[in-house]
Amino acid sequence: MKKSFLTTLVIAVIAINVAASTLVYKDVNAPIEDRVEDALSRMTLDEKIKMTHAAGKFYSPGVPRLGIPGLMMSDGPHGVRAEISWNTWKYADWTTDSATAYPALTGLAATWNRDLARRFGVSIGEEALYRGKNVLLGPGVNIYRTPLNGRNFEYMGEDPYLAGELAAEYIQGVQSNGVAACVKHYALNNQETWRDNIDVKVDNRALYEIYLPAFKKAVQQGGAWSIMGAYNKLDGQHCCHNDLLLNKILREEWGFDGAVITDWGGAHDTREAALNGLDIEMGSHTNGLTTESAFTYDDYYLANPYKQMLENGEVPMETLDAKARNILRLIMRTSMNGSARYGSLASDEHFADARAIADESIVLLKNNGILPLDPVRAGRVLVVGENATRNLCKGGGSSELKPKLIKTPLEVIREYYGEDNVVYAKGYRSGKAMYSSAEDIPAAELDSMRREAVVLAREADVVIYIGGMNKNAYQDCEASDRLDFHLSYEQDRLIAELAAANPRIIVANISGNAYAMPWLDRVSAVIQSWYPGSAGALSLVDVIAGRVNPSGRLPFSFPRRLEDCNAIAKGTLSYPGIEENGQPRQEYLDGIFVGYRHHDTARIPALFPFGYGLSYTKFDYGKVICSAHEIVDSITVTVPVTNVGDVAGKEVVQLYISDLKSTLPRPVKELKGFQKLTLAPGETATAEFVITVDDLKYYDDRRSEWIVEPGKFKALIGASLTDIRGAAEFYYR
Ligand code: BGC
Repeated sequence: MKKSFLTTLVIAVIAINVAASTLVYKDVNAPIEDRVEDALSRMTLDEKIKMTHAAGKFYSPGVPRLGIPGLMMSDGPHGVRAEISWNTWKYADWTTDSATAYPALTGLAATWNRDLARRFGVSIGEEALYRGKNVLLGPGVNIYRTPLNGRNFEYMGEDPYLAGELAAEYIQGVQSNGVAACVKHYALNNQETWRDNIDVKVDNRALYEIYLPAFKKAVQQGGAWSIMGAYNKLDGQHCCHNDLLLNKILREEWGFDGAVITDWGGAHDTREAALNGLDIEMGSHTNGLTTESAFTYDDYYLANPYKQMLENGEVPMETLDAKARNILRLIMRTSMNGSARYGSLASDEHFADARAIADESIVLLKNNGILPLDPVRAGRVLVVGENATRNLCKGGGSSELKPKLIKTPLEVIREYYGEDNVVYAKGYRSGKAMYSSAEDIPAAELDSMRREAVVLAREADVVIYIGGMNKNAYQDCEASDRLDFHLSYEQDRLIAELAAANPRIIVANISGNAYAMPWLDRVSAVIQSWYPGSAGALSLVDVIAGRVNPSGRLPFSFPRRLEDCNAIAKGTLSYPGIEENGQPRQEYLDGIFVGYRHHDTARIPALFPFGYGLSYTKFDYGKVICSAHEIVDSITVTVPVTNVGDVAGKEVVQLYISDLKSTLPRPVKELKGFQKLTLAPGETATAEFVITVDDLKYYDDRRSEWIVEPGKFKALIGASLTDIRGAAEFYYR
């Protein structure tokens, strides 16, 4: 029978459609696993191998033949980094990549505000989208173990619960744009000294209770689509291809289905990279930051050497399929997710986001009543300190930013307090950016700068000091740790002499780390802020002038002395480690007693404790009520909080749990909840916390499991670790 032309046409159209619909991997409505399997089934060996390693400084390939795009990546945690050249570390000098600088993640942690963490993520994700990035390299959730770590400013403090809660929100925010967050640096990258190869030993209890939970939460609660391996080793094996961290914990225990990406230059061995859960190798044959080589991408560990091992049968083909699957899944979630949103860059809305975060990040540590400083009545204001004139987005390493709109604190002080009323003296100066240390500044120069400032201080009605640290090497900077606990450039002497000349001195320091404050008793007020980004100067001066009521709380303890930090107290083997035959190694002898867990348990008071921060108003706490005396699955604890002052303010209500008796030693108490309340004068709101049995557990390393022991527990409600306002007891039987 002869078919009519029309029938033939219809059949042809149907056939074409059927053929098209079999391209499941392109169908954005098909289940993601079907898309992944379909794409995988069409790929050649070479195409799969190409996906597993970089083909540019921040690019890893897709499958051009199949129309599968590769992955464009960018630093970093607190803003989308300016474009780097395709094949060198030089900036590409685009004129269209000035971005919003959000506060450094320590600042986000200091907000203790989940909503702001999500807003941060959404906002930075939109910037990444606009810049055509599929993977944003952040957030960082390594734990603050010592105040010397040069990269603490990129992380979220010393408590895994706080870091994990905020990271999860940030990640969900970023990924709501179809941009993957890449949580870093997994794991135990808690210092920069010898970061490339230091071999870390840590007991399983500290690993599970302190160093892993924020990563776990980032993966399970945040749903992170990618994770970055750390440079260092754990038990002799580099973290980027570490069997325990990647195969056993990340994949098997936590069920991670995203892609593992190396830190730049973090891969060191083809067999391990093939077998131990790594998916994408980036930055090999560079130090990840400054040096590079002409080594071609085909020579990466996961390129030709991997192909050879696969073909020789030295490593199984399934390892390659597993990697390709993870990478395809990441691509389907990002560049092939079917959304065509553009995002936006350095918009007014993003500036407002950065400002809202910066506002809540600032921590008021001391105030004898001098603050807020009314601009109308302030009189002659002397501003001292180099950080008054810097935006502090430059330097620091890979998190460096090219901000669009930015003012310095001095400019904003002049605006608020009047040009004619404000005098500036630098007082000290830092060295030239990245590679000089504080010691390079001639003493005579610092002496004369100090003397000039002190003379001016005598004539001023008030002194605003804006100093602290910066992003130079050996300060808050990648690739080096601090050399000591004191502020550099003779700032202690400068502040002390300024205070002697004029006790009406407000010290507003910027840093990502704690430091000594030998002058604390002699100054009128201390404000701590972190690298606050595009809007930071406005936020800082708003706090000084009282337009913003400070509501930040410390995400880590400020010890009185460096030796009060447990990692340091335990000696050189503990921090920074020792070097034997060219191999540095260290043991985390401080175990689970990190940060406040140590201060509290060893009864060594911190200068300023974890969770601490003042406000321009006061909050009263009512009775703490527990929903039951016994916990089966969960109980609820509530506490009413009232603003009893006369300005609006925000209070961070903190829940700590104390296990009154346990077989293994435990910290006196641990953070298990927090809630930020916004209260008008006279207003009361109730903070509510649900405590589950999981919140009572600790990791028993003799049995390798989380356990809860029957007995009495206490729920402590506080305004900081040491300012406990009420408690309730309950039993677990
Ligand atoms: C850093 C990473 C960063 C990467 C790419 C490395 O040196 O450790 O945090 O994402 O470089 O710039």
